[in-house]
Amino acid sequence: MREKVTVLGAGNVGATTAHWLMTRNTCDVVLVDVVEGVPQGKALDLYESAPVSSASVRIVGDNDYAATKGSSVVVVTAGIGRKPGMSRDDLLKVNYDVVSDVVKKALAQSPDAIFITVTNPVDVMTYVTWKATGLAPNKVFGMAGVLDSARFRTFIAMELGVSPKDVVAFVMGGHGDAMLPLTRYSSVGGIPVEKLVPKDRLDAIVARTRTGGGEIVNLLKTGSAYFAPGASTAEMVEAVLGDQKRVLPVVAHLDGEYGQKNIYVGVPALIGKNGVEKVFEIDFTDEEASAFQNSVQGVRGPLSVLGL
Ligand code: LAC
Repeated sequence: MREKVTVLGAGNVGATTAHWLMTRNTCDVVLVDVVEGVPQGKALDLYESAPVSSASVRIVGDNDYAATKGSSVVVVTAGIGRKPGMSRDDLLKVNYDVVSDVVKKALAQSPDAIFITVTNPVDVMTYVTWKATGLAPNKVFGMAGVLDSARFRTFIAMELGVSPKDVVAFVMGGHGDAMLPLTRYSSVGGIPVEKLVPKDRLDAIVARTRTGGGEIVNLLKTGSAYFAPGASTAEMVEAVLGDQKRVLPVVAHLDGEYGQKNIYVGVPALIGKNGVEKVFEIDFTDEEASAFQNSVQGVRGPLSVLGL
């Protein structure tokens, strides 16, 4: 039997995640949204593309959580997105209420599900998902690092004129402008990126990665990115469903790793059927360590605003 994945929120990120999952024949998808007709309409539109997109999975939309019963993974995209001039933290209070509510409703139908939170500010909303569901920390994690790393990899590939597939690079820390793209741990076909790209160009790529979400917001003017966020989320869902043991940067719970406790933030982790199966601790230079601490503080601030 095919596994079922629920996507909460039928906005651009939710619907695009459903689209990627469908075109990769990963799983059946249930799209849920509070707005009547929208999840039904988007799911039907997606389903109608199946005959011409080689998809053999089923996709439905509903306003009622009963349709989500027995999901293996719940993806949380519900909430409002960034508009021009808004920071991720502006979204804080609105999305806190939305996320706390929808994850409880989804958990009631799928008590064994793994939850992947995407709603911004994502480090905080992943913590909110964990608290609201009361699940073990490994069963709740968030999507940011795969997206930020995909942007970083794309920019390196653009600089060198190589396939993005051959660029290995990753980003740690909170999903904000203080995130930490790690050039020291990045390579192209196994060759350290620092040997291929001059420092000033690499610095510019790091800066562009940090503001990659804002770059799209400024271009679109009416919303934020969704193709790359959807693809990144689908990759994480696949890692769980296939028990792939992928090593991906995700928003994970820290319990002493990197000297941090009681927080969710972006770190490299092993992702399989149990969710976050291990957090990898990497060595930092002094500069990287202080940049990571700074980024973590950027997550603790809004958590304390919410009294968490
Ligand atoms: C991004 C925003 C949505 O990174 O956080 O695209």
